[in-house]
Amino acid sequence: MSFPGDDPQLSTAENYRAFAAEARGKSPRYEALATAVADDAEILNFLGHLPVAKRQPNLLFAAACYLLDEPADVAGLRRLVCDRRDELTATMLTRRTQTNEPARCATLLPALSLLPQPLAMIEVGASAGLTLLVDRYSYDYDGHRFSGTDPLAPVLSCQPRGPVPLPTRVPEVAWRAGLDLNPLDVRDADDMRWLECLLWPGETGRRERLAAAIATARRDPPRVYRGDLLTDLPDLARHAPSGATLVIYHSAVLAYVQPPLRGQFAEVVRSLDATWISNEAPGVVSGIPAPPPDIRSFVLIQDGRTIALAEGHGTWLRWLS
Ligand SMILES: C[S@@+](CC[C@H](N)C(=O)[O-])C[C@H]1O[C@@H](n2cnc3c(N)ncnc32)[C@H](O)[C@@H]1O
Repeated sequence: MSFPGDDPQLSTAENYRAFAAEARGKSPRYEALATAVADDAEILNFLGHLPVAKRQPNLLFAAACYLLDEPADVAGLRRLVCDRRDELTATMLTRRTQTNEPARCATLLPALSLLPQPLAMIEVGASAGLTLLVDRYSYDYDGHRFSGTDPLAPVLSCQPRGPVPLPTRVPEVAWRAGLDLNPLDVRDADDMRWLECLLWPGETGRRERLAAAIATARRDPPRVYRGDLLTDLPDLARHAPSGATLVIYHSAVLAYVQPPLRGQFAEVVRSLDATWISNEAPGVVSGIPAPPPDIRSFVLIQDGRTIALAEGHGTWLRWLS
C-alpha cells in the first residue's frame, strides 16, 4: 500500500486523480488542483523529468506553496513550471514530504500508557520530533480530559469510537530520541515554513495545532538524529537508559520505505529488546496481513498484534483488543 498519490504502479496522472479523491471533503483547493494537474500536459511533462519518487502531489504542492508563499492554484503552478522551473525542480529534489502531525500522539497515547513506566522512547521517521512530545500535550477524548507536562502545549482532541483503555494521565518519559533521514529543526524558521507548506489548505485546526506544537517543542527541543531506520536504529537504542521500557514507534513512515526493505526493518526492531508500536497505513508492516480493503484508516500494531484502528491524522481511535 502507498499513500494516495504515491503509488509506483500508477501513472503520474492516475496518482494525481487518486490524490484528488483523497483530498475530497478535506481540501477543495487541492482536490481541484490535483484534478487539473492530472489533465495538464505541461505540468505532467515537467513531473516526467523528475525521479518517480519526486512526482508526488504533496511534494509538488508544498514546493509551490513554499515558492509562492501561499497554496497554488493551477494558473500559479503553470507559471512556476514555465518561469521558475529550475527553482521548483531544486525545491522538489532537495526537500521531502515530512508532514509532522502532533495529533497522532492522541492515537498512540493509550498504547504507550499501558506499558510499564517510565518509557525510553525512540521514534523512527520523527521529522521535527513533534510526535515525540506525547507527555507534553494535553488531551481531550470526547470530554475525558487530562493535562500534559507543558501547560502551554496544545490540547489534542481525539474521538474514541467504542471502548478505548483511556489513561488518566500522560505517560512518564525518562528519555526520548528521534531518528530521521532528514531531521527538521524546530528552531529553524525555514524548516518550520516547509512543515507549514506541507499542510493542505482548508483542513481545519491543523495549522493552529502545528504552530502550538512547534512553540511547545521550542521550549525544550527534542533530539532528532540524522540516520536511516534500516541501519542506524541499533546504535541509537544502545543509548536508551536501563530501568525504562524501551519503545520504538513510528507513524506514517513505512510507506516511504521500499516494500522489500520493510521486512529488513522488522527484523532490526525485533532484534532489539523493545516494544514495537506501528501506526501506519494498512498493509505496510511486514508479516502482518492487510485488513479488509474497506479499512482506509491507519492501523496500530504492537509487537505483531493489531490493537486499534486510527484516523491517519489522529482525530479518532477504535480499540480492537
Ligand atoms: C510523513 S513524515 C511522518 C512524521 C511523523 N512520524 C508523524 O507521524 O507526524 C515521514 C518521515 O519519515 C522519514 N523517513 C522516511 N524514510 C526514512 C528512513 N528510511 N529512515 C529514517 N526516516 C525516514 C521522512 O524523512 C519523514 O520525516
